[in-house]
Amino acid sequence: MSNQKEAGDTTTSSSSSAPSRLGRPPCEPLPGPKTSVCSRSYFVVVMVFFHVYIINVIALLFYVHYSSGQEDARPGPPRDKQNPQPPRPPSKAPLPRDIFLPRIEGIRVGHVQKVSLVPGKVHEMRTLSLKPLLFEIPGFLSEDECRIVMQLAQLKGLMESQLMVQDGQEELAKELDLSPVEIFNLLDINQDGQLQLHEILTHSRVRDGIWLTPENLQEIYAGLNADKDGNGLLSLEEFRLLSGDAFQRFLLQQGVKRSQLVRNSRHTWLYQGKGAHQVLQDIKIRVTRLTRLPTTLVDLSEPLQVVRYEKGGHYHAHHDSGPFYPETACTHTRLAANASTPFETSCRYITVLFYLNSVEGGGETAFPVADNRTFDEVSLIQNDVDLMDTRRNCDKSNLRVKPTKGKAVFWYNYLSDGKGWVGEQDEYALHGGCVVTHGTKWVANKWINIDPDYQRQARYEQLVSNRPDDEVDEDLTWNSDIHQEL
Ligand code: OGA
Ligand code: CA
Ligand code: FE2
Repeated sequence: MSNQKEAGDTTTSSSSSAPSRLGRPPCEPLPGPKTSVCSRSYFVVVMVFFHVYIINVIALLFYVHYSSGQEDARPGPPRDKQNPQPPRPPSKAPLPRDIFLPRIEGIRVGHVQKVSLVPGKVHEMRTLSLKPLLFEIPGFLSEDECRIVMQLAQLKGLMESQLMVQDGQEELAKELDLSPVEIFNLLDINQDGQLQLHEILTHSRVRDGIWLTPENLQEIYAGLNADKDGNGLLSLEEFRLLSGDAFQRFLLQQGVKRSQLVRNSRHTWLYQGKGAHQVLQDIKIRVTRLTRLPTTLVDLSEPLQVVRYEKGGHYHAHHDSGPFYPETACTHTRLAANASTPFETSCRYITVLFYLNSVEGGGETAFPVADNRTFDEVSLIQNDVDLMDTRRNCDKSNLRVKPTKGKAVFWYNYLSDGKGWVGEQDEYALHGGCVVTHGTKWVANKWINIDPDYQRQARYEQLVSNRPDDEVDEDLTWNSDIHQEL
């Protein structure tokens, strides 16, 4: 881990001047007629400080309340037996928003909370960053559990995480039917009439699943004789001469190595429901306790994904789940919502990542912009250094987590909406797996899927749970008293 920035305390300067004034007798005889003004101004200064102080305290209370959502979450709305919920309306009417998602508070980087996840054992959970809200829990899985998960995955068989050639990425561009000039203007971020290497890479780092580096791009220019004047930039004229799929065709002709893909690993999925191996069910229960989310939400989430990287394997920086617009459907609720929308994403509210072995060399999980002051997609590539490239630039990431057997890290891929539900994507949650330099690396992912559209999530739950409404509610009871402050 490196480079965690501490927030500087800049609030002291104005208040520190107050005591020195207060220390002086309020109405020292001063020359001239100012004496009478003196006591009044003294009073005004005191009152101003007093008001500013009160306003600060109120603002702070509001901030804590809304940023954590925790207050809302803990006791939850009345759902106890003495005070049962009225029966829910039939599924077409809007379902009342009576669920508030808890979010664990990070407090500050390095803060440690004790959590009790398994009987007779206390785990320590350390805050690694606030943007994204990211924690690590050493020893979350026992050695035996790690071994069993790896064996089960091997028994089931792992498949390549990414096939060599993908298609379909050009469809959107074709549908939009953009002219070369329109594409050029879209790419020309600084609007100087030339395409710099980083401008092309910011938009087109991934072509057909192939990861482009600045050097690849230069090779392509040379191979296609694209940069006719050899200045390293593409003018509109030079750009016009390139056909839309010239890059891909050139790359495919050259032959693509696995190391040139976005991701070079193998994976499989392990079901965790009834009848699954006890270890898999135990892990799911532990994740529910850790995240404090309703059991139903965790039960209805994706199975456990087990990933194996060989030496040389990597996963370039990515988001586990995409941004959310009104036109976005979630993969898990899509059928229930019966919606035809142009965008789809997996709506993974939380990622819990488990390290199943300690890697001999490399293989860290990198968070290139964790706790950065600002996020700017364009500045992810600077001076031809691409922070998203985990084969080359992991050492420049703000935060790196070392893979240690049994450790879990978890983070929120979305912010809170301030009302106890899922809000916008957290852009700082960008992360990737650094190249493995020695040995192999095994990890598992538990993703918790929640639709940012509450109605769609609630309808989906109703539909798949196949239980009367109040029974579903029974399942949505909150686990409390799991997290204690250290
Ligand atoms: C993933 C992922 C990180 C790692 O599988 O989505 O980001 O360290 N993995 O393997
Ligand atoms: Ca430019
Ligand atoms: Fe990921």
